[in-house]
Amino acid sequence: MMEFELTEEQIAVQQAAREFTQQELLPGVIERDRDMKHPTDQVKKMGEMGFLGMMVDPQYGGGGMDTLSYVLAMEEISKVDSSCSVIMSVNNSLVCWGLETYGTEAQKQKYLPLLASGEWIGSFCLSEPEAGSDATSQRTTAIDMGDHYLLNGTKNWITNGGKSSLHLVIAQTYPEKGHRGINVLLVETAWNGVVIGAKEDKLGIRASDTHTIMYNDVKVPKENRIGEDGFGFKFAMKVLSGGRIGIAAQALGIAAGAYELAVKYAKEREAFGKPISQHQAVAFKLADMATEIEAARLLVYRAAWMKDQGMDYTSAAAMAKLFASEVAMKHTVEAIQVHGGYGYVKEYHVERLMRDAKITQIYEGTSEMQRIVISRNILSGQLYEPLWKIENV
Ligand code: CAA
Repeated sequence: MMEFELTEEQIAVQQAAREFTQQELLPGVIERDRDMKHPTDQVKKMGEMGFLGMMVDPQYGGGGMDTLSYVLAMEEISKVDSSCSVIMSVNNSLVCWGLETYGTEAQKQKYLPLLASGEWIGSFCLSEPEAGSDATSQRTTAIDMGDHYLLNGTKNWITNGGKSSLHLVIAQTYPEKGHRGINVLLVETAWNGVVIGAKEDKLGIRASDTHTIMYNDVKVPKENRIGEDGFGFKFAMKVLSGGRIGIAAQALGIAAGAYELAVKYAKEREAFGKPISQHQAVAFKLADMATEIEAARLLVYRAAWMKDQGMDYTSAAAMAKLFASEVAMKHTVEAIQVHGGYGYVKEYHVERLMRDAKITQIYEGTSEMQRIVISRNILSGQLYEPLWKIENV
């Protein structure tokens, strides 16, 4: 049986996210983007609405929802404000999920309620000046000092960097062991030696806060290591697989947002005596947009469903992110074309969506890294079971 209907709960989440986006995120989104103004009030409200810890177990203050509900909310929010949705994505699928899945009971009790409520925001600190795609080349060090680690190094392009209270920091403890010597540490930003560096002036997602972070002799208690000694790189890979579903949902939302604006505009705008939607040149663009966005939606929802079923979703997540991000880039450009000159100015939103789309092909693994993940899984015979195995979505 293949089931394509959402549950009542999932529809309610989708509806709530849609209304929240229209009421709370749409006002001021152009100005926040222009001024690189962090959406502090909006993020606080997202916390109150439960959008910052959607999948976290209610015993730790979360919503206890499935991944598909999270994806639906990400999609709706990303139709308008991807600065808000990246803050949400990093907090939910990298920080909260990683901590809840691999952390100790004490770590979960201490940090999850703060993160799930939005009282604290988290950052995921993997990328370095010379370790982006090549993530095993970590130069940040976490030296074992007995009862604590001494953390030193620099992390780049850290989402939520200037606003987060907790960092998940990936660092090398045993250089001679390569990626098997890497650890992941929970670092509170209030601790001595955590230095928030320059804020990036970005092409898109401009209201999200992206910083360089320096760690100078930061003492991290041993109990703040997640998992076994040397688990850090596997942790990063596992967490990023889930994170990629969130970014795929973001890309899907950006594409869908641009498409909805293009359809609306094409029906209203007249040229040569009729709405431009009645000209085949425009109508066919809308048809291609709708078809490819729907294909992306199926990939993204399926990856979320596979995660919820406990299946191996590594390739599914990589495929969803690869495809949805390319659809987002392609069709935000097309949405501008449908809008003509109006599409080129900020007031009509589509130029922002195009700028926001670009990052979805880069962060949480570039499109090239997704192709590495997918092709390695194909060639090692580990690609998941084919589509007809799916019983419901
Ligand atoms: N699950 C579990 N383990 C995994 C894994 C997965 N999905 N993928 C790899 N591993 C393990 C491998 O089994 C291997 O371990 P062993 O040797 O012990 O078996 C180890 O990790 C190393 O794997 P590879 O040899 O495949 O490593 P590689 O150097 O060839 O790189 C890669 C693989 C997929 C390219 C990886 O480096 C990668 O994903 N790079 C992209 C990094 C990335 O996504 N960065 C995003 C930054 S975070 C961000 O953007 C957040 C934000 O703010 C929005």
